[in-house]
Amino acid sequence: MPKARTRLRYTARTADKHELYEAAVQNPDADLDFVTRVYRQERGRAPQAIREDFCGTGYTSATWVRRNPANTAWGLDLDRKTLDWGRKRHVAPLTPDQRSRVTLLERNVLNPGPETSRVDAVLAMNFSYWIFKTRDDLRRYFEVVHGSMNSKGVFFLDHYGGWQAMRAQTDRKRCRGFTYLWEQRWFGPVTFDFDCRIHFEFPDGTKMRDAFIYKWRQWQIPEIRELLAETGFRKSIVYWEGDDDNGGGNGIYRKATNPEVCPVHLAYIVAVR
Ligand SMILES: C[S@@+](CC[C@H](N)C(=O)[O-])C[C@H]1O[C@@H](n2cnc3c(N)ncnc32)[C@H](O)[C@@H]1O
Repeated sequence: MPKARTRLRYTARTADKHELYEAAVQNPDADLDFVTRVYRQERGRAPQAIREDFCGTGYTSATWVRRNPANTAWGLDLDRKTLDWGRKRHVAPLTPDQRSRVTLLERNVLNPGPETSRVDAVLAMNFSYWIFKTRDDLRRYFEVVHGSMNSKGVFFLDHYGGWQAMRAQTDRKRCRGFTYLWEQRWFGPVTFDFDCRIHFEFPDGTKMRDAFIYKWRQWQIPEIRELLAETGFRKSIVYWEGDDDNGGGNGIYRKATNPEVCPVHLAYIVAVR
């Protein structure tokens, strides 16, 4: 007998914002495939110990320890409720062995602590480091990362920009059972202050407004690379997402020094210790 198709009945009255965020925004396996490929290119072996800064629900950390029995992960975030949600959703279902290799900590990334140091790779994804709004603050964060990896450490950040990232606009994306909205509410051309919001809309007409609010500074790639160099990283490499010939990205990232100008781009910045 064919299986009955499960219909997703999301509504703002009951939907869980973390579940929607993860479905709409995150793809831990894609990030981790990239991290593994590039780390191997730089260091000649696969990374094992990672730290996920700004880990949120720890989805990426939990995925990492599932992928290989030698993998370990620390996840750091300031938000206790988000961490607790992630511990239930992602850590509790792991096997005892997997669980013993992942720890989510309520901790400021500026004070990661000695036990989370000497890792092979640190990841700061979804532009979370844009929380630091001055050169001094971002430099301090990069210094901490540099000092808290082993001598073969590689630091992975992501980046988005382009002229459409420098204005107020809202993008909508249809997901299974809901619509995801990315609102750039305000961009300041003098300060590069960047106020962004995530909203969700549902088939029954209900809406979840301001599910997530980000008050960032939009950093540009040369500024980031200069700070990485100032804090002791030997080199930084930009990997640029290719285009799908339809106005979107194709999910394939290649080293780029002079890529084509795009209205919006996604990139990874890889800093090698
Ligand atoms: C954009 S979310 C990123 C979540 C997840 N890493 C991802 O890739 O989707 C930013 C997260 O950073 C956390 N955060 C902000 N400042 C922090 C800090 N100084 N130390 C640790 N976590 C911080 C917030 O609590 C929030 O969960």
